[in-house]
Amino acid sequence: MPAYAVIGGQWGDEGKGKVIDYLSERVTVVARFSGGNNAGHTVLNEKGEFKFHLMPSGAVWPQVTPVIGNGVVVDPDVLIQEIEDLRSRGLDVSRLQVSDRAHVIMPYHVALDQLEEKGRGNGALGTTGRGVGPAYVDKVARTGIRFGDMLDAEGLRSRIEQILPHVNDVITKVHGGEPFDVQDLFQRCLNWRDQLLPFIAPVEERVRAALGRGENVLLEGAQGTLLDLDHGTYPYVTSSSSSVGGACAGLGIGPRSVAGVFGIFKAYNTRVGAGPMPTELDDEVGEAIRQRAGEFGTTTGRPRRCGWFDGVAARYGVIVNDLTSGILTRLDILDGMNPVKVCIGYEVDGKPIEGFPAQINALEKCKPIYKDFAGWTTPTAGLTNWDDVPLEAKQYVQGLEEVIGCSIDVISTGPNRHETISRKTLIP
Ligand code: GDP
Ligand code: IMO
Ligand code: MG
Repeated sequence: MPAYAVIGGQWGDEGKGKVIDYLSERVTVVARFSGGNNAGHTVLNEKGEFKFHLMPSGAVWPQVTPVIGNGVVVDPDVLIQEIEDLRSRGLDVSRLQVSDRAHVIMPYHVALDQLEEKGRGNGALGTTGRGVGPAYVDKVARTGIRFGDMLDAEGLRSRIEQILPHVNDVITKVHGGEPFDVQDLFQRCLNWRDQLLPFIAPVEERVRAALGRGENVLLEGAQGTLLDLDHGTYPYVTSSSSSVGGACAGLGIGPRSVAGVFGIFKAYNTRVGAGPMPTELDDEVGEAIRQRAGEFGTTTGRPRRCGWFDGVAARYGVIVNDLTSGILTRLDILDGMNPVKVCIGYEVDGKPIEGFPAQINALEKCKPIYKDFAGWTTPTAGLTNWDDVPLEAKQYVQGLEEVIGCSIDVISTGPNRHETISRKTLIP
């Protein structure tokens, strides 16, 4: 049963959107399984440039059914806006399906996200402020509202009546914020229901049916392994399982369905938001990467922190996800840089350490041990053939394979779908 998972191997923004659009040619379903509209996935092809926050990145292909799974949290206003934008650009979005089990990001979740961040002061996590964390908190606390709940107006009203007093207590008494009104929220839910009704479906059954028919299904990861709630750099993480384990839970499929797990890695590292990043370059080299690569958040526009490729963190990502293939993006960004450095180990107080530490204070003490690679003078930008890649860039890719312990089977050399080198067919 051929499902293939595409997982961010670093701290997000690895180029998952680009790769998913590229890989979607031979699939019938592309399904998001975790996160929410904290994600920003950029797709560029002959139809134009798209920045998807909720819409799965394979949506541009006519044969693809885009699916938003039960594991995703969805701000209905953002989804409706995204559907309208795509329609106005002539894209057929009628096949979109949203799980009736997916949780709704309510307006009070967005308010709470921002109030909590303010309350954290210097310890702020740097969330995207989209209400994602508080929506997952309510899901786990069993006080969430799901898309299926919107189909029963009476039940929905009493659910809001039951939930809101406590929410308002927290907002007003803990944070000094403004309370929400039952009738107003109820009315907004009815408006969302009216607009989204055609899309709400038991998508898990449909994904399982597609797999049962032997169709190829892509499982679209959001965020990245180092932002995973369990396996990431806790507490500087997102509130869902962005590594491969989340794919099964977030779509209601079994692990035996997953035939391939593809980890996406940028040729260097970036991070948005707070938390340790051992290879961060707080100098002109980091600034050069940011400017050359336009490393500013797709969702919030914040400058992304930039640094050399962290081989220790990436090797950890390979292990956590049991990757079958690595996919390297943005190799072209390193064109003309010399040398190109890769972190091949960490040291603490001058002594090398094993592995990727679980504790944040231990990771903060880690200093990267670098290996220098010779830069290349002939550009890789736009290349589509491995044979055309300059020798030094090939040596860099091979060096990364050795450090991370996984083969790099696809290399992206530009943002456009066709700017891609395939060294192996990943989806037969
Ligand atoms: P995602 O969140 O993982 O989908 O990544 P984002 O879309 O947030 O950020 C990746 C950025 O890199 C986007 O602007 C892409 O258009 C761009 N991109 C993806 N692959 C490549 C590549 O190989 N080369 C270049 N130059 N840009 C790329
Ligand atoms: P894509 O799918 C990069 C980061 C935020 C913050 C932390 C928690 O485009 O790769 P949250 O709003 O989730 O509670 O914020 O996670 N973050 C991302 N960073 N890419 C993303 O998504 C991210 N989604 C969340 O910056 O540090
Ligand atoms: Mg992104």
